Amino acid sequence: MAIERVRRSYGARAAEYTELLGSVNAMTAEDRQLITAWAATVRGRALDAGCGPGHWTAFLAEHGVAVDGVDLVPEFVAIATARFPHLRFRVGDLEALEVADDALGGILSWYSVIHTEPERVPGILGEFARCLRPGGTLLLGFATGPRSEPFDHAVVTAYFWPVDAMAHELVGAGFEIVESRTRTDPGSRPHAAILARRSEPTAS
Ligand SMILES: C[S@@+](CC[C@H](N)C(=O)[O-])C[C@H]1O[C@@H](n2cnc3c(N)ncnc32)[C@H](O)[C@@H]1O
Repeated sequence: MAIERVRRSYGARAAEYTELLGSVNAMTAEDRQLITAWAATVRGRALDAGCGPGHWTAFLAEHGVAVDGVDLVPEFVAIATARFPHLRFRVGDLEALEVADDALGGILSWYSVIHTEPERVPGILGEFARCLRPGGTLLLGFATGPRSEPFDHAVVTAYFWPVDAMAHELVGAGFEIVESRTRTDPGSRPHAAILARRSEPTAS
């Protein structure tokens, strides 16, 4: 099963991933600025969904967000817990987050849906919407391209998403799009970030 492949592939390379990419200083200044600005808007508890070795979780906590980290890969959860023992990390699946309805003010999903087969992504977006309170926000980072198609990621197969297609799925899952941005850094795949707000229930 694809999710088992993701778990095994990252599990085998969790220490290497942490060494290479497990620091916000290895990320771009634009991403740090975007996530800092988003952090300032989050009200209530947040979740770093697909937190890897926990660097963005710790960054959010440093910026005043009450945040936990969740990841599919036990090796990442162990590494994150050892690196940031003051924070809570747990093993979990984006498809079933084990969070109460409307419990969260914010979710960061930074490159964590890229390994999910495209047909399963709407289910994850729906799970994010379920966990967020109305007005709560999702910041989603992903690799973008003109078509929804697989690419050879260094760890395990990942998928490009056109921004419009991802925005369409977000709206279908119960979000309003606040902002989207794209950029291509030299030597990197095209990047997209979408900030989305969980819609308020409509009066019936
Ligand atoms: C490219 S890494 C990004 C990690 C981190 N967010 C970052 O920005 O460095 C993808 C992460 O998503 C996690 N992931 C992928 N599918 C997942 C799922 N279904 N449930 C929970 N975590 C998942 C992987 O284990 C991995 O840690």
